Amino acid sequence: MITIETAPIAGQKAGTSGLRRKTRDFMEPRFLENYIQSILNAIGGAKGKTFVIGGDGRYFNADAIQTILRMAAAQGADAAIVGQNGLLSTPAASHLIRLNKTDGGFILSASHNPGGIDEDFGLKFNMPNGGPATEAVTNEIFAQTQNLTSYQTMESPAVDLATRGQTSLGDMAITIVDPVADYAALMQDLFDFDAIRSLFEGGFRMAFDAMHAITGPYATTILEDTLAAPKGTVRNGIPLPDFGGGHPDPNPIWAKELMQTMMADDAPDFGAASDGDGDRNMIVGRGAYVTPSDSLAVIAAHAHRAPGYAKGLAGVARSMPTSAAVDRVAAAKGMGCFETPTGWKFFGTLLDAGKVNLCGEESAGTGSDHVREKDGLWAVLMWLNIIASTGQSVADLMTDHWQTYGRNYYSRHDYEAVDSAIANTLMDDLRAKLPTLPGQTVAGLTVSGADEFAYDDPVDGSHTSGQGIRVMFDAGARVVLRLSGTGTQGATIRVYLERLEEDPGKLHQDAETALADVINAANQIAEIADRTGRAAPDVKT
Ligand code: G6P
Ligand code: ZN
Repeated sequence: MITIETAPIAGQKAGTSGLRRKTRDFMEPRFLENYIQSILNAIGGAKGKTFVIGGDGRYFNADAIQTILRMAAAQGADAAIVGQNGLLSTPAASHLIRLNKTDGGFILSASHNPGGIDEDFGLKFNMPNGGPATEAVTNEIFAQTQNLTSYQTMESPAVDLATRGQTSLGDMAITIVDPVADYAALMQDLFDFDAIRSLFEGGFRMAFDAMHAITGPYATTILEDTLAAPKGTVRNGIPLPDFGGGHPDPNPIWAKELMQTMMADDAPDFGAASDGDGDRNMIVGRGAYVTPSDSLAVIAAHAHRAPGYAKGLAGVARSMPTSAAVDRVAAAKGMGCFETPTGWKFFGTLLDAGKVNLCGEESAGTGSDHVREKDGLWAVLMWLNIIASTGQSVADLMTDHWQTYGRNYYSRHDYEAVDSAIANTLMDDLRAKLPTLPGQTVAGLTVSGADEFAYDDPVDGSHTSGQGIRVMFDAGARVVLRLSGTGTQGATIRVYLERLEEDPGKLHQDAETALADVINAANQIAEIADRTGRAAPDVKT
């Protein structure tokens, strides 16, 4: 073991999901080492512990893993379980942490952000329950980064990550595992693979876009090799360090090719995509894009069709900016329903306590209590199971759903790379005028309430404040504004727009059209165009 003197590096504060920075920042001397040491200090050291280690394969993935292995071995860790070639999707890592009853894991990813030496990199620590570190732990990690004076490592040649099986580093045992096998077995337990296989054997056609990212090998093994989907169902299925120069974010903007495929006359029956690290998902039928909020609601309504959920759901949870579509299903079916701050980590206590077994976010995350992360392929398999069991197309499922529960028209408008001072002032001024809003009529809509969302965790009692500004209008319309916690440049203002429609004759409008009044009201209340100088959002999803 060698001890290297260091000094705190400013700003090593985790965002919504771990520490994300430009890759070159992570490659600066001591940057990665300082953060790893701060994690190890915060969790009471590495001694005697077993960790799962893997990432989404982006540039610097393997180098960072070698550094973690050396530091963990030098500091007395017992064992490490590492995905072959350093690869593990985030949900697969969460599963391995739980399956092997380990002390947690290091996941290397900047999720849906582009990869490469000039793009983004990230590192997060997950807890023994398989979920992202809690606020208390991330705060402690940050405190450690501010007081660090040294770190411990060792000198050694690089560990061979390519060969499966047992190896070691110093006294630490290392197992290099097939990244897919255990995860695929878990999926087989949860879903009716026979029914889905029959669907494909009957000629059902699907396009899955892995976006040159981590789900390629998982989707190929599960969809093509196990479920008999035709070869070529999985597109862009080889993970690349720069994701082919793309933005591996599964939404209609970044998964444009898939959208074009699915909107064409000869579209396959079903389309789906996942992100850089495999935890997000996009669902699209022939000519029918499904918003993440609607997807969550449909899954809540039909999950009992999958063998792993046959007993029905105890409860569901959604992040606050996610639409209330799932709330309507929960109310109709008598399930518990929880509204949490943005970030998957807030679902952990509810899942551990058995209060909920389905969770979802507008940011394209859906998952259940099978792991403690959102899970892209899980959502895709759930939809396939629902389609196989109902025999209905995606478009018909959506129509039925809206007729039963009403439609929560929904859209998110993002203003990216806004000057941070301007964004903060916009939020501060809006916060200041919240008490004056109720009763006012803006763009024809009457404000029924306005607040800044805060959350009291019903399981561990923790309090989290400052989680986004909400303005509620009569008739089930709502505007939410918050600043992104995952950006790496300036500030991103997210404006979440929603309106409930229950008129059976008005369930098939274009969302932007149906939301026109809500969009106008948001602009007037928050003065977005005036303050940012932007006439329109950069991205609408
Ligand atoms: C990550 C987290 C999600 C969260 C999202 C929000 O993807 O894993 O749980 O919903 O960030 O991102 P934002 O940029 O809106 O803070
Ligand atoms: Zn992700």
